[in-house]
Amino acid sequence: MGKEHRDFLQIPDFTKSELLALFGIAERMRSGKYKKKPLAGKTLAMIFMKASTRTRVSFEVGTYQLGGHALFLSPRDVQLGRGEPIADTARVLSRYVDGIMIRTFAHQDVEEFARHAEVPIINGLTDMVHPCQVLADLLTARQHVKTKLENLVVAWIGDGNNMANSWINAAYRFGFELRIACPEGYEPADHLVARAKGSATIVITRDPAEAVKGAHVVNTDVWASMGQEDEQRQRERAFRGFSVNAALMKRADKNAIFLHCLPAHRGEEVSADVIDGPQSRVWDEAENRLHMQKAIMAALMGGESLK
Ligand code: CP
Ligand code: NVA
Repeated sequence: MGKEHRDFLQIPDFTKSELLALFGIAERMRSGKYKKKPLAGKTLAMIFMKASTRTRVSFEVGTYQLGGHALFLSPRDVQLGRGEPIADTARVLSRYVDGIMIRTFAHQDVEEFARHAEVPIINGLTDMVHPCQVLADLLTARQHVKTKLENLVVAWIGDGNNMANSWINAAYRFGFELRIACPEGYEPADHLVARAKGSATIVITRDPAEAVKGAHVVNTDVWASMGQEDEQRQRERAFRGFSVNAALMKRADKNAIFLHCLPAHRGEEVSADVIDGPQSRVWDEAENRLHMQKAIMAALMGGESLK
């Protein structure tokens, strides 16, 4: 494959009209109308430097459903885990496979991989962003919220983490209102907020009630992300009061949906009655990972047009 390939490292790597085309493809895949096998004869390498249930299974199954083959590579399996340089790994894998999905810690590592690879790189989560997940979340909002994406009010409760940062990138592309309630010291990335403010309304508050007022989508995530396990106790103290419970959901729009990328900690960032309750769409959200990533792979690796 030549240098004309495209990567998907962050949501703004696609234009708004390309994102809408991707949603359309994903929806055709979900409904069963999409019958093509754009990955026939192609292979996806999946590098996981962190644990995963949804990302691993949805990429592997999705590749198979599109006619291709996926390879699961953990640090125990590949020399990357023993210090082989990222650049060398990227160059070598590019001679074998047609696309590479990476889940790792530093976002710069994925960028470095992309600089040296000759095939598309797809970001399966870094400490900075989780773009495949938030595209699946937007697909879930299209499925379950009547309001158009541009007019959404989205509330984020809790840590200003990789998920919050990807929501900021989504707001940047679609121009919706995003309200983030986080404790002091746990804010999302300044440079992403600054960029998004040019085209979206981004509110950062300390008050979850203010953030959810009239919101169409209420969203949260774990208090300690992968790699932050040692901070669990300290974070439990810092995030007290930043739980999504029934009382908080009542302040949102009456048709509001609850989303969580999972895995969830019931009794911490979300109460069981909310995540297992009637407003929760978390299982459709998890399913949408499959459809969304298939659309992304069809476009980046399978020649599917986004025009
Ligand atoms: N939401 C998500 O990315 O889940 P996994 O960590 O299980 O892949
Ligand atoms: N913020 C979480 C998301 C897991 C899918 C983490 O990075 O661990």
